[in-house]
Amino acid sequence: MRIGFNFTLVETADMVRRMFAEGHIDYCELLIDNFFCVRPAELARAFDCPTGFHIMFSEFIDADIDALADFGKRIRLFIQEMRPLYVSDHGASFTHQGVNLFHLGELDYVRDYDRVRARVDLWQEMLGQRLFIENYPSIMDGGWEAPRFFERLMHDTGAGALFDASNAVCANLNCGAPLEAWDKVIAATPHFHVAGYSRAVNPPHIIHDSHSEEMSEKTLSFLRGRRHIFDKPDATMTYERDGNIEYDSIVADLRRLREIFNNKVEERRNEPDIASAH
Ligand SMILES: [Fe+2]
Repeated sequence: MRIGFNFTLVETADMVRRMFAEGHIDYCELLIDNFFCVRPAELARAFDCPTGFHIMFSEFIDADIDALADFGKRIRLFIQEMRPLYVSDHGASFTHQGVNLFHLGELDYVRDYDRVRARVDLWQEMLGQRLFIENYPSIMDGGWEAPRFFERLMHDTGAGALFDASNAVCANLNCGAPLEAWDKVIAATPHFHVAGYSRAVNPPHIIHDSHSEEMSEKTLSFLRGRRHIFDKPDATMTYERDGNIEYDSIVADLRRLREIFNNKVEERRNEPDIASAH
């Protein structure tokens, strides 16, 4: 299992380089559309380590087709230059009846299926490569339908899931959806996210993926218990942290991941695909 870190804040650039230099991470995940203002070759030089691409604001499920095609063209330039380990996007809504949402909204997994499937086909074609779609930290009963939605989507489009383990734990805590329901999705995909979550201070005190805490014991025991289906030769696990940025706390969590997946960074770096992924 390769362990990575999701780079989202300018002020953490040096910290990410240090984590790579000290062997805490094997690669860095970039929110790639944050870098449209930079030439791809320049970005490749700035992050002299393997990368994964996470697309933030394509809004590929709802976006205007011409705007999406333009967005895709820009991302392809970065893909060609940097050859990321994976390219992923969000399985979520960014708008509701034409109004932009402040927080991403959950899809209606039954009603929206055909529309999402068609857009995944289109977006993969525009990007010229396989896409990995991230699951949502469900708040309501959609959490029960999400695993089957992803199974169908992967089967019908050839896309993968970017399975966020702690998002599934949020869904479990919020709506009771069992973690075991994700087994087929986990077994079928090599790319994962994980982070800490928080309980909202206001009623009904939902659990949300705040990315500002260390991983919970529930998340860690989920990873331990399902390690045999998470771990694969080409697997990646990206640790996300956007709040309470504190080096020692992040490194402690990265070490917990390494302990679970029992690998050493030196072993990973000696593998040919990591060495040539720059
Ligand atoms: Fe995530």
